[in-house]
Amino acid sequence: MAEQRAEDNGAGPLERGGPKLSGGVDAVLLLGRSGHQVAAGEGMESLAEAVRATGRYLAVHTAIVERGLASLPEGLEACARVGVRKVLVIPVFFGRDRSLAHWLSKVALRWSRSRDGSAPEVIFTGAIGEHPALGEAVVRAVADAEGEAPVSVNDFESLEDPSAWSMIPPQERHVLACMGPRCTSRGAGKLYVHLWKSLQKRGLLRGRSGVHAAQTGCLSPCNLGPTMIVYPEGIWYCGLTAEAMDRIVDEHFVGGRVVEEYARGPGRHERPAPGR
Ligand code: FES
Repeated sequence: MAEQRAEDNGAGPLERGGPKLSGGVDAVLLLGRSGHQVAAGEGMESLAEAVRATGRYLAVHTAIVERGLASLPEGLEACARVGVRKVLVIPVFFGRDRSLAHWLSKVALRWSRSRDGSAPEVIFTGAIGEHPALGEAVVRAVADAEGEAPVSVNDFESLEDPSAWSMIPPQERHVLACMGPRCTSRGAGKLYVHLWKSLQKRGLLRGRSGVHAAQTGCLSPCNLGPTMIVYPEGIWYCGLTAEAMDRIVDEHFVGGRVVEEYARGPGRHERPAPGR
């Protein structure tokens, strides 16, 4: 299996440029690098739609390495749900990043082992940025653009930016929620949406007693993820779940008491959560 090949000589399939397809692929997972912008997710979805339109696969899904709602394990799970046998993962990004490729193989392997022998085979291709047809597509896009109506920078009437960008929002607390790749692979994207809704429900999104929440890249202690830091106390919360988020909102943000069960201090090696 590809998951087992991922352990050969320490190199993952993505690092080696991906295997030649021998057939039998019945699911495709398009894996984007960052889901920071909504437009990026929409672009991925339209690529997925093009693959679906071929009618060749039982499942076609998208996933995101960091700052995204569907992580690689969640995307694989979506494919497995319809009983596919072989999932082809196509990294929709540029560049050969050996450490990222190696880590992605490990994420897929962990996911596979978590399913107790019921996981479909997972194989990776090289990143789409290395595909020779991409150069042709860019040349064609440039040629097509010459025939389109021009959008000039001179068309802007005002150079002013929105006034809201000039004000630090009133707040009692500030939350930095990690959306780095490791935390995203453990569901941080969905947890952030959960936190947002939970704050909204309790009227804590705005105002002087509110919580200003922001997403960050990797905060460092990835093995303890999903992580977040709460200021002004400087509390690190680790191994977060939806239930933990609810307790933190109720007990810490409303009640003023740190939820010790999930709080960790700096300078100590902590035990990773089970299965991580
Ligand atoms: S990815 Fe979250 S701590 Fe590294």
